[in-house]
Amino acid sequence: MANEPAIALKDVHLTLGDGAGRVHILKGVTLDIEAGQSVGLVGPSGSGKSTLLMVMAGLERADEGSVHVAGSELGPLSEDALAQFRGQNVGIIFQSFHLVPNMTALENVAVPLELAGRSDAFEKAEAELEAVGLGHRLHHYPAQMSGGEQQRVAVARALVVEPKILIADEPTGNLDETTGAQIVDLMFSVQRERKTTLVLVTHDPALADQCDRTIRVRSGEIEEAASDVHPAKESIRA
Ligand SMILES: Nc1ncnc2c1ncn2[C@@H]1O[C@H](COP(=O)(O)OP(=O)(O)OP(=O)(O)O)[C@@H](O)[C@H]1O
Ligand SMILES: [Mg+2]
Repeated sequence: MANEPAIALKDVHLTLGDGAGRVHILKGVTLDIEAGQSVGLVGPSGSGKSTLLMVMAGLERADEGSVHVAGSELGPLSEDALAQFRGQNVGIIFQSFHLVPNMTALENVAVPLELAGRSDAFEKAEAELEAVGLGHRLHHYPAQMSGGEQQRVAVARALVVEPKILIADEPTGNLDETTGAQIVDLMFSVQRERKTTLVLVTHDPALADQCDRTIRVRSGEIEEAASDVHPAKESIRA
């Protein structure tokens, strides 16, 4: 199908935790996201935004419903197949960077390529770090870099496999305003250039507004107003 959505969730339910800590987090989420679209996921703390991202990324399995991402139905995949799916199709950026502390910038970015068995892992990782403006920090360890630099490394690591889907969970939450804005510009420019589908969680209304579309999550359900879709913006970017 030519216009198959990049992400299609149908009546997705997810409960996590045990005993008294059991929480029914996602309560029937149905959602289509077009390929190449940028989507801002907003909503109160605890509403299920991060959990929803994890389901889209194939890091959490839905208990019920169907999760179709980048051409694959994730439910039936084995753990190995799911790991392979993630490695090829999804790049993830977290608020707290999540770099491996005892690896240099270059080594961190090369990891996804090495896992994919690429013999040019280090060359490609170097090029990706240069593209995010960190050609001069290849051999620095995370602790030797600023927050903004660490997040650039994380962006390079997420993008190095040229994923179809880029997922970011409050990517600017730990950065000052200027540095955060640089990271945002970087993500959007790559998203447009490579026509990547971008889904990002943010508490920043201005950042959500930069996306083609805003989706609101409330108590594990989707609330989307028609006015949240910005066709004008899409035509500007087309
Ligand atoms: N592994 C888990 N076990 C039990 N409950 C969980 C688990 N993970 C998340 N929850 C609960 O599910 C709800 C949704 O969590 P989630 O992290 O998705 O919220 P969020 O919308 O990302 O919030 P925030 O904006 O604060 O990051 C919360 O009430 C949380 O306590
Ligand atoms: Mg969260």
